[in-house]
Amino acid sequence: MPDSSFYVTTPIYYVNDKPHIGHAYTTILADVLVRYARLFGRQTYFLTGTDEHGQKVQRAAEARHTTPQAHADETVVRFQELWKTLEITNDDFIRTTDERHKVIVQEILQDLYDRGEIYRDEYDGWYCVTCERFYTEKDLVDGKCPEPGCGRAVERIAEANYFFRMSNYQQWLIDYIDQNPTFIQPDFRRNETLGFLRQELTDLCISRPKSRLSWGIELPFDADFVTYVWFDALVNYISAIGYRRDDEQFAALWPAAYHLIGKDILTTHTVYWPTMLKAMGLPLPRTVLAHGWWLSGDSRMSKTTGNVVDPMEYIDRHGVDAFRYFLIAEMVVGQEANFTPEAFARRYNADLANDLGNILSRVTTLIVKHCDGRIPEVSELTDDDRALQDLATATAGRVHEAVERVRLDAAVGAVADLIRETNRYLERRQPWNLARDGDKASLGTVLYHAADVLRIASGLLHPIMPDRMTACRSALGLTADEPDFENLGRWAVLPVGSRVEKGPALFPRIEAPKKKELKKKEDSPMTDDNLIDITEFQNLELKTAKIIGADRVEGADRLLKLQVEVAGEERQVVAGIAQHYTPEDLVGKTVVVVANLKPAKIRGEVSNGMLLAASDGDVLRLLTPDGDIPSGAEVR
Ligand code: MSP
Repeated sequence: MPDSSFYVTTPIYYVNDKPHIGHAYTTILADVLVRYARLFGRQTYFLTGTDEHGQKVQRAAEARHTTPQAHADETVVRFQELWKTLEITNDDFIRTTDERHKVIVQEILQDLYDRGEIYRDEYDGWYCVTCERFYTEKDLVDGKCPEPGCGRAVERIAEANYFFRMSNYQQWLIDYIDQNPTFIQPDFRRNETLGFLRQELTDLCISRPKSRLSWGIELPFDADFVTYVWFDALVNYISAIGYRRDDEQFAALWPAAYHLIGKDILTTHTVYWPTMLKAMGLPLPRTVLAHGWWLSGDSRMSKTTGNVVDPMEYIDRHGVDAFRYFLIAEMVVGQEANFTPEAFARRYNADLANDLGNILSRVTTLIVKHCDGRIPEVSELTDDDRALQDLATATAGRVHEAVERVRLDAAVGAVADLIRETNRYLERRQPWNLARDGDKASLGTVLYHAADVLRIASGLLHPIMPDRMTACRSALGLTADEPDFENLGRWAVLPVGSRVEKGPALFPRIEAPKKKELKKKEDSPMTDDNLIDITEFQNLELKTAKIIGADRVEGADRLLKLQVEVAGEERQVVAGIAQHYTPEDLVGKTVVVVANLKPAKIRGEVSNGMLLAASDGDVLRLLTPDGDIPSGAEVR
């Protein structure tokens, strides 16, 4: 993160979508980073918004017999309201239909056109309506859209269009990325972009003829065309902060930008956007950080599978802060994470209900009962007290360092360590027994220590759980609106004598999702005819295999051909799993294969083995080992 100002952006979300966990996650991540930056004393600016032009909005509006603008006006509210509910502290919300945005897009286009950066040409290529992108013949995968997770049929389109000379900047961009290692984060995403740039970069088609799509920003130099939705959308990051309008604001925030995105929009942000900025003569944003996907039970969330997590469901049941905490604690930024009701209940009960909430409840109960409801004085210190103080005062530094590396999971972990240790401290010092024995001096010391830890922990977690941590702080008699970071690294800031209140439980325990009732084996006896001898099983050679390549099989909707490596040997296996996994989901996974199956030809493709998978109705899951193991390992 930059030292001085910190300008954070989220992607602007398609206004059509119902807000889901993907949108909520990026926005919460941005909010938490901004709140930490503020806590550390930085100047911040936080922008989010909606992407409102393009085919999808036009079609949705047509289906509802309304205008695209009216449709967008109605649906944008869903995002704006969710951000309010989620305690998002954005400074601005930009809509690409805002006049302030449209005029800037047009000025940029005119300027680039006047300088020959944009030209007109005939175009003949393949177009995916869903992704709103053109592809060349060689881009297509099995004749279909190559976008990960799309794979839909494409249309052949021949028409005149306008192009941005993106190809001119290929070498410049490669050099820039090489020389600025923090521009694209994490590192493996930088390599992904560099890999993309090894192929020849073509010019970017930045227009759509109105005859096909009218819902967009009109090209200022040709009224028969509107602007390609990405060329319009990316500009939001500068139109919102006063580019060409408010030089002072713009200079204060650009290029201190930190773009948070999902991994699926890496190319647009690390190839299109930098080359557009270069052509405009602007410096590039400091960092583009791509996070991974939230999965649902290890598979991709999709509307068709119906496993998309609805944020409102969790917020209504367990509160906004618990939801924010789970998302931030559970995902290592950059990697994938899994959202399941079980994981949510586990994390919530362990960290929040049993640890943090429990300490606050114990401490406030004892202070109210035995210390007249006031923070008690400290008397003689033991080594145990000093060790707790040391850990507590070191925690702010650990959190700061983790946040700087955007390892919010580690920041949460540092506070969780402190809380766990405080629980152990209370178990060792047994304040309830000190109270019973009337040892007021030791009781005061122990309770003061636990309470001052809570002051520090609640301050450090405030950016993640602003509401619950404010409640925790006011239970301890701390009334200032926001914690002061300096004080979070100091011991004994909590004033002796301040009033403590025992409020309702901060995080009431939640029921873990119910397990299914299991039948005892004796209740469903097997007959001898369906039992096999162990030797029959031993005839099967089951081995682990690493998937190193995956592709669709032409003309077969259900089949994928996989290249797998089994103990240094490569073989092809054809599997009927295309409706459950995309090729991208599979590469890198270790699975289990029947290795001694006679080769067979399926739809003209040789299959050398069979994958093991579990299936239940429409659900199918590949069997994978529970941890790292080399390929070729025996499965028995
Ligand atoms: N409108 C474009 C962005 C333009 S930015 C100039 C767009 N919008 S989107 O609404 O489709 O997606 C927004 C973000 O949600 C993307 O960053 C995407 O990665 C993220 N997610 C969608 N599903 C997700 C998960 N299941 N998990 C995490 N994030 C995912 O793309």
